[in-house]
Amino acid sequence: MIKPFEKPVYVTRPFLPPLEEFRQGLQEIWESRLLSNNGPILQRFTKELCNFFETDNVCLFNNGTLALQIALQGMGISGEVITTPFTFVATTHVLFWNKIRPVFVDIEPDYYTLDPEKVEAAITPWTTAILAVHVYGHPCKLTALADIARRHNLKLIYDAAHAFGVKVGGKPIGHFGDLSMFSFHATKLFHSIEGGMLIFKESGLKELFDYLKNFGFKNEVEVVMPGTNAKMNEIQSLMGSMVLKYLEELIRKRAVITKLYRCRLEEVPGIHLSPAPSSDIRSNYAYMPIEVDEQEFGMSRDALYEKLKQWNVFARRYFYPLVCDYPCYRSISVNGQLTVARRAADRILTLPIYDSLELSDVEAICDIITSLRLGKA
Ligand SMILES: Cc1ncc(COP(=O)(O)O)c(C=O)c1O
Repeated sequence: MIKPFEKPVYVTRPFLPPLEEFRQGLQEIWESRLLSNNGPILQRFTKELCNFFETDNVCLFNNGTLALQIALQGMGISGEVITTPFTFVATTHVLFWNKIRPVFVDIEPDYYTLDPEKVEAAITPWTTAILAVHVYGHPCKLTALADIARRHNLKLIYDAAHAFGVKVGGKPIGHFGDLSMFSFHATKLFHSIEGGMLIFKESGLKELFDYLKNFGFKNEVEVVMPGTNAKMNEIQSLMGSMVLKYLEELIRKRAVITKLYRCRLEEVPGIHLSPAPSSDIRSNYAYMPIEVDEQEFGMSRDALYEKLKQWNVFARRYFYPLVCDYPCYRSISVNGQLTVARRAADRILTLPIYDSLELSDVEAICDIITSLRLGKA
């Protein structure tokens, strides 16, 4: 009989730098009394990210949602945008806030990212952009999407909320497409408590984004456009800058956890995993999704999700329901059947993964899952 965990094991647990290190950073803020408005720590953090992403075209925000919302506005995206229903709801909300019509198309079954063929079939004279998501940090079909965008003169925008630290062919994932948004929310592998970042190709956008996130202020007396308030503050910047120092270690620990999960679950009938990424991809191991086949496993994804709670394991059904099934988006007609997306939304469970998760806990979670299949638990 496997014992339940004494304390709840959640799907994630934010990394925090050593308290003393953070306290020393706070000292600087206490001395400067600069808490926001492009303070010195934000400027330093921005430079660190420019080095990390090997570009000067970096702009920081107080969260990823506002970053993407401002990106669409600044780039002048309008009309229709082709996007995925298999994502966090903010990907679609930012379209709504810009009065853009989302056109939902299906995803591919291996990594759950937009299916390029379906994208191409959904293009109309009103399409202005593709908004694709590197779901779970899995890179989208970068070459195929870039080719479609080029041939149809569309902007290619990536919601890279899950993909901090991912590299393809040695290049940071933010280098692909016209623009990428990263979320630094506390639930993410890399975080600044809350926060967001845009990385973009066209350097001219930087000034525009800076105006838009700061009420449109050019200087004390000039407001050049109706901007909003989406600035990252000094405490967020401090946290981000400190967590960045630990990023490689965090990714390494998650890689070990992922390896163990894969090794334990790969052969379990009814549990399906994404294929291991190709050798040119450096993963960030942000999430641990498994697909549950009810027939083979002998229990539905939802039943497994509920059962795990009895052992104090709180997995998540990312992403369920599909965004197009939320009441606010139900009236939008979808393009095609969304067969793969519906199947993913019904079958995927993301298991706990974070740097401080012990390997013995991963073993225990796998023991629970395997014994549930055999009806022993
Ligand atoms: C895919 C995706 N897009 C957008 C967001 C929104 O980012 P934020 O929470 O930083 O606003 C999130 C996560 O929160 C996300 O997972």
